[in-house]
Amino acid sequence: MNGNTLVTGGAGFIGSHLCERLLASGANVLCVDNYFTGTKENITHLLGNPRFEMMRHDVTFPLYVEVDRIFNLACPASPVHYQFDPVQTTKTSVHGAINMLGLAKRVKARILQASTSEVYGDPEVHPQPEAYWGRVNPVGIRSCYDEGKRCAETLFFDYYRQHQLDIKVIRIFNTYGPRMHPNDGRVVSNFIVQALQGNDITVYGDGRQTRSFCYVSDLVEGMLRMMDTDRDFTGPINIGNPGEFTMLELAEKVISLVGSKSKLVFGPLPQDDPRQRKPDIALAQSKLAWTPKVSLDDGLKETIAYFRKTLGTRSDSRMVERPAGNALGISS
Ligand SMILES: NC(=O)c1ccc[n+]([C@@H]2O[C@H](COP(=O)([O-])OP(=O)(O)OC[C@H]3O[C@@H](n4cnc5c(N)ncnc54)[C@H](O)[C@@H]3O)[C@@H](O)[C@H]2O)c1
Repeated sequence: MNGNTLVTGGAGFIGSHLCERLLASGANVLCVDNYFTGTKENITHLLGNPRFEMMRHDVTFPLYVEVDRIFNLACPASPVHYQFDPVQTTKTSVHGAINMLGLAKRVKARILQASTSEVYGDPEVHPQPEAYWGRVNPVGIRSCYDEGKRCAETLFFDYYRQHQLDIKVIRIFNTYGPRMHPNDGRVVSNFIVQALQGNDITVYGDGRQTRSFCYVSDLVEGMLRMMDTDRDFTGPINIGNPGEFTMLELAEKVISLVGSKSKLVFGPLPQDDPRQRKPDIALAQSKLAWTPKVSLDDGLKETIAYFRKTLGTRSDSRMVERPAGNALGISS
């Protein structure tokens, strides 16, 4: 992979891994981020690379740079972060998409949108194939994220039809790994941090709701493969790990891998929290020859090792506290 590649949200969890892989493949990488949830620590190790450049910029404002490819990841991804300033969340998805699509149009770049399984909402179809239109509450507390991402997809496809833009849309399912934000309220980081600190592990609802968990290196591989597909293949395409686990199973795995004595405590289920989420990845398997490789146990071991090393040392400048009385929690 050569050429100039822009990664918006590049200082975030997934973005920093993507920047790393792009650099390793020979690309020049311009990382753009406003550090809302990303941190400089996530990319410090890349700063010495002459092919890496960092720019502090908010994608809700236009950007003028010369690039060949754009990975548009900028957007807070966990409920605790995207509900902190919901208006800004929608703006980031929608104005951010308009600005990045405008840039792609001007410089004739290929552009990939990091969409989400949240576009399926609380699904009646299980597992979710790309053809499923979803069941999303347009006026709930998760809507700023879900509807923002849905609107971004609409914009991508309208730019494709109206301006013949070279677009790719991937729908990312729960992803985890090193550099997740320790305070993001997502289930994997929550459980690991609680177990490492010897605190009770908070399970929302009865813990029998399921999620699938994709390790970050598998996701990045899928993203890169999608970016390299023929122009006429736009997606949307699901990228996720179809292995399905209940929250109780996940909690037990984390407790045993950490070697913790933490106990489970149960709290109320957050509003509009999906009961089940599992990707149908038949399209990714056939179009990208992609399938996730990292088992949940192996991925959790890497993630636990990261949190063991960094807990208390990350200087997230804009960490947000969980709003009082608002049972946020299980992840996007
Ligand atoms: N992690 C997951 O499980 C998951 C699942 C589905 C979709 N996604 C999508 O993948 C992308 C990356 O998610 P992540 O998990 O790495 O989250 P993250 O919060 O770690 O990364 C998002 C990055 O975007 C930056 N950002 C936010 N608003 C911005 C703005 N207005 N201008 C510039 N930068 C801005 C943040 O500072 C951060 O570095 C997001 O678009 C998210 O919606 C992630």
